[in-house]
Amino acid sequence: MRFSRVTVPTLKEKPAEAEISSHELLLRAGMMRSVAAGIYTMLPLGSRALGKIEGIVREEMNAAGALEVVLPSLHPAEPWECSGRWQAYGPEMMRMKDRAGRDFCLAPTAEELINMTVGRTAPSYRDLPVNLYQIQTKFRDEIRPRFGLLRGREFRMKDAYSFHADAEDLDRTYRRMYEAYSAVARRCSLAVKVVEAATGLIGGDESHEFMVVSDVGEDVLVYCENCDYGANAELEEHKPGVTFGADSQPLEEVATPSLVTVEEVADFLGVTAKGVLKCVLYVVGGEPLAVFVPGYRGVSEAKLAKALRTTDFHVMREDERELCTAVTPGFTGPVGLEGVRLLFDLEVKGAKGLVCGANKPDYHLKGAQEGRDFTAEPLADVAGVLEGDLCLRCDGALRIARGIEIGHIFKPGTKYSSSLKIEFTDRDGVLRPIIMGTYGIGTSRLLQTVVEQHHDEAGIRWPKAVAPLPVEIIVVAPERSEQTEAATRLESELMDLGFEPLLDDREASPGVKFNDADLVGLPVQVVVGKKLADGKVDLKTRYTGERRDVPLEAAAEEIERTIAEAP
Ligand SMILES: Nc1ncnc2c1ncn2[C@@H]1O[C@H](COP(=O)(O)OP(=O)(O)OP(=O)(O)O)[C@@H](O)[C@H]1O
Ligand SMILES: [Mg+2]
Ligand SMILES: [Zn+2]
Repeated sequence: MRFSRVTVPTLKEKPAEAEISSHELLLRAGMMRSVAAGIYTMLPLGSRALGKIEGIVREEMNAAGALEVVLPSLHPAEPWECSGRWQAYGPEMMRMKDRAGRDFCLAPTAEELINMTVGRTAPSYRDLPVNLYQIQTKFRDEIRPRFGLLRGREFRMKDAYSFHADAEDLDRTYRRMYEAYSAVARRCSLAVKVVEAATGLIGGDESHEFMVVSDVGEDVLVYCENCDYGANAELEEHKPGVTFGADSQPLEEVATPSLVTVEEVADFLGVTAKGVLKCVLYVVGGEPLAVFVPGYRGVSEAKLAKALRTTDFHVMREDERELCTAVTPGFTGPVGLEGVRLLFDLEVKGAKGLVCGANKPDYHLKGAQEGRDFTAEPLADVAGVLEGDLCLRCDGALRIARGIEIGHIFKPGTKYSSSLKIEFTDRDGVLRPIIMGTYGIGTSRLLQTVVEQHHDEAGIRWPKAVAPLPVEIIVVAPERSEQTEAATRLESELMDLGFEPLLDDREASPGVKFNDADLVGLPVQVVVGKKLADGKVDLKTRYTGERRDVPLEAAAEEIERTIAEAP
């Protein structure tokens, strides 16, 4: 491949649209160009890298016993209506009508369609299990497309679907896919934390997300330093803290004029947030709810949703206060509070010496004690986790990190087969709903994640397994025929060895070419320049920056070795 401005259009300046390094580098290194928000064209090098990643995914899927298929991207509405997701998906689904006015969508995922495919003829238990996958463009009209390929509106995903006669068989395939996903991450030089995840729109019981720890990740995960516990922060579990509250004290009312926040009240009364019981007022399905959590923690709305079994709630707004005259916003406490539904975090049980609202304007109580002055009921795990909280399983310290979700595996079980009536005949000839597993990995998101994890000031540092090409040859002065000849000879020798090089034959200054080579980031660089007078070329490993001269005659073999040794 030749480095002309057309094939690798590098940019000197940071494009305005890029907020994070990997997005900036993919644009600047000429790997891709943006077309519209969340929509990209992959240029020759970017397309190669994506192909490498998808090749790895394909190999691991095949090794796990999955079979490749190609489903359409354009889906009729009917199966989606049957499963209820035509409505549930909402505006994230790209919808359209055909010329006859029939509804279609550009597929965001394919559970419905694959069920239709497998279920066409009620299979027998003898045909199961079956595991089918595709690597396809997906469409989601994301509310906030951002960070380039990390959250696109048109993106690439490998989606696999397995079908089983019983839960044990699903477990076996689920494990194999779990291992395959771990292998994909390893081969792409990505360290992943596998965490327990919420099942969301797809539904079902067990679910795991494959997370790459990164500050630019949009997810928050919690993991144990000591054991392999890990969970999305939306459903983490931690040991209730033991330091909430203080010693037992008599109950006392104190004036706290216009002091409403935990910090203001704590400062005024000379205590810390660990001594304050915080109340957050919500409106749940039109009804008020007072949620009490330790003042040094927040309410986790994801955990609250789980406890309430609904997502139909929000923090009470000013204009909703007439909903409930029993509460005094800013001064709400559990002592003597009636006429409103209450919910307490687990940690409130047994707490003493608490500061809390007195249920009248400008007053708080000191010394409130659970069990004596109020009863913490009902109880639920609704408080957010804090760094250093203890692991429920092993008492190890929990850590909180941001993560990029590269893959997600689920067990929807019979969710789709029941609504879509996809059945199989069991050993006794009885028709039963088929049991399903679903497995997704975002290949374009994965591509950018590799760049996010593997770059430096100068540019991308492609790990060789996913590098678009293995080596770049830089011709320092293409107008000097001996350099161009040596470089083209080396190019064809490398091709014979199976390594396609990128040849920078541009009429540009050496500095520009060296900078671009670092920016584009192929694993090995070869400089054909002045040293040719001594019969030598210069080799550089991009990842480590190590360089050495090698004789031109031995260059191809030396490059082969250097590539083999590169990260
Ligand atoms: N908008 C997107 N752009 C790029 N990749 C995506 C996008 N949405 C999902 N993916 C990828 O597809 C995989 C499987 O899709 P799934 O439906 O499980 O994602 P999701 O839970 O909606 O992800 P997210 O929480 O990031 O929106 C994800 O793990 C991710 O790698
Ligand atoms: Mg999503
Ligand atoms: Zn642990």
